[in-house]
Amino acid sequence: MFDLYHVLVFVHVAAAVAWVGGGLILALLAQQVRADGAWEEMAALVVRTERFRRTFFMPASILTIMAGIGMGIIGGILSAPWISAGFLGVFASLGIEMGYLAPKGRQLQALLRRHPGVGHPEVVGLGDRMLLASRIDLAILLLILAVMVFKPGAI
Ligand code: HEM
Repeated sequence: MFDLYHVLVFVHVAAAVAWVGGGLILALLAQQVRADGAWEEMAALVVRTERFRRTFFMPASILTIMAGIGMGIIGGILSAPWISAGFLGVFASLGIEMGYLAPKGRQLQALLRRHPGVGHPEVVGLGDRMLLASRIDLAILLLILAVMVFKPGAI
């Protein structure tokens, strides 16, 4: 019952919950702040999100991946098609988070410092593109969740 495999399943699922749940709450919060036109709050939220990216989302995603790989090795299923689909989704998600949202977040911080307290068109445009990207990212993570639970192609 308390063997290494099940400890890894627990770590994997707990870290995935933190990753997906944390991302969902931040996206909902950003959406609400944007709808209220609360640009000073948005500036604070962008700074906090950047900090969370390093201190919370990075460790959560690394734990999810490492525990997932550990289970794959122990279970001898690392090359199963549903695991490959999981890897593909994780790379797509990390690509959006590290390759797009992180640099654009820094750009948005600079724009909000230059145009404080107003919905400057550059701020609104970039903010909306980032919200769209974070929704796509969440959709990918939910898709991985479904793949993990239904394990298509597994016997
Ligand atoms: C490198 C990527 C990943 C690998 C190699 C991987 C591997 C695995 C493996 C081997 C299991 C089977 C555990 C079992 O049923 O005994 C599993 C389950 C699970 N994974 Fe992943 N995973 C990955 C990414 C993710 C991500 C990103 C999420 C969340 C978005 C996730 C959520 C889950 C959940 C909820 C389960 C439990 C499913 C169940 O027990 O029915 N995984 N994963």
